[in-house]
Amino acid sequence: MGIYQTFGKPILLVDIDSDIAVENKAEKIYSLKNKIEYIQSEAEKQALKEFLYDIAQLKGDWKIADFIENQIDQIRAEVGDKKLVLGLSGGVDSTVAAVLVHKAVGAQLTCILVDHGLMRKNEADDVEKLFREKYDMQFVHVKAEERFLNRLADVTDPEKKRQIIGEEFIRVFEEESNKIEDAEYLVQGTIYPDIIESDASLGKMVKSHHNVGGLPEDINFKGIVEPLKDLFKDEVRKVGIELGLPENMVNRQPFPGPGLGVRIIGAITKAKADILREADAIMREEIEKAGLDKEINQYFAVLTGIQSVGVRNENRTYDYTIALRAVKTVDFMTATYYPIPYEILDIITKRITQEVEGVNRIVYDITGKPPATIEWE
Ligand code: XMP
Repeated sequence: MGIYQTFGKPILLVDIDSDIAVENKAEKIYSLKNKIEYIQSEAEKQALKEFLYDIAQLKGDWKIADFIENQIDQIRAEVGDKKLVLGLSGGVDSTVAAVLVHKAVGAQLTCILVDHGLMRKNEADDVEKLFREKYDMQFVHVKAEERFLNRLADVTDPEKKRQIIGEEFIRVFEEESNKIEDAEYLVQGTIYPDIIESDASLGKMVKSHHNVGGLPEDINFKGIVEPLKDLFKDEVRKVGIELGLPENMVNRQPFPGPGLGVRIIGAITKAKADILREADAIMREEIEKAGLDKEINQYFAVLTGIQSVGVRNENRTYDYTIALRAVKTVDFMTATYYPIPYEILDIITKRITQEVEGVNRIVYDITGKPPATIEWE
């Protein structure tokens, strides 16, 4: 602890749980050592709470219902009687954005489900069913696998993949929205962590997150509506619940916009996507069967680029290695690996290697974030 000078004023350096913070009570100058998004320790949380409530005198009366009402008013004021299109992936963010915007403007919104060939098993059909039957939304299902895979052929760089998938998404939207008169707005399910992690302004970009960084500059819409852009994932889920979405839909684990494209290391082919889809479906089935699906915040299979020697039906194989990934996280900015019990790992491993042609080895990723990220690319 000690007294120093800054901005010509004395400040007090205090130790909070070994993190150094800065405090000058008289001048109301405070600082934390960590970036606010990375605050983890109870002492830091307590210090932040005291700052917000006692010093800054904030009331903490922000309510999800008010947020929804405000967004509805804002969306209506912004778009008037124009039409909107939304790229629906079936993930939590785009689903909640769709229901929120649908509540604001009803049939002015058309949801476009672009199947880029990199979705999970049966995902596109399941999403179509839910949105047509439950919500009676204007819905277009575009089967664009070939188009995406052609553009992605031989592309190995993760950021390039994201960029291509993001651009192609927008082009497909444009083509479809051109068929809808007055469709001037694009709705995106961007959430706050997407923006933080895509922030290249400090030269610290982690990943571009295709719904932000991958947007081409010559985009053909009058405006972009991003109603969830100030929210963290847990808040997006609360909005979903408040809007009456089924619990299992709202608590679905996130699925990245570029889909399996960032879970296939190296160049993407249809054969690899099919292998990964099957392996991933088996993993998800077994995790659900074991009752761990609510416990683990995100879990999936990754098709590593590694091939190695194995044996199948007494013949030598030279097949792919699948990595299993499972993480615990609150905000997806940091994460710890989830310790799936060995018995379950054993079942998943046996099933994948027996049922999925082209895979002869399974590894389990036990790295946290940081130093790794949740996705492998
Ligand atoms: P990372 O891999 O950055 O992932 O630790 C954090 C969370 O973001 C998801 N993710 C994405 N979501 N577009 C998205 O919409 C993307 O390009 C993208 N990359 C990662 C990831 O699944 C995890 O939930």
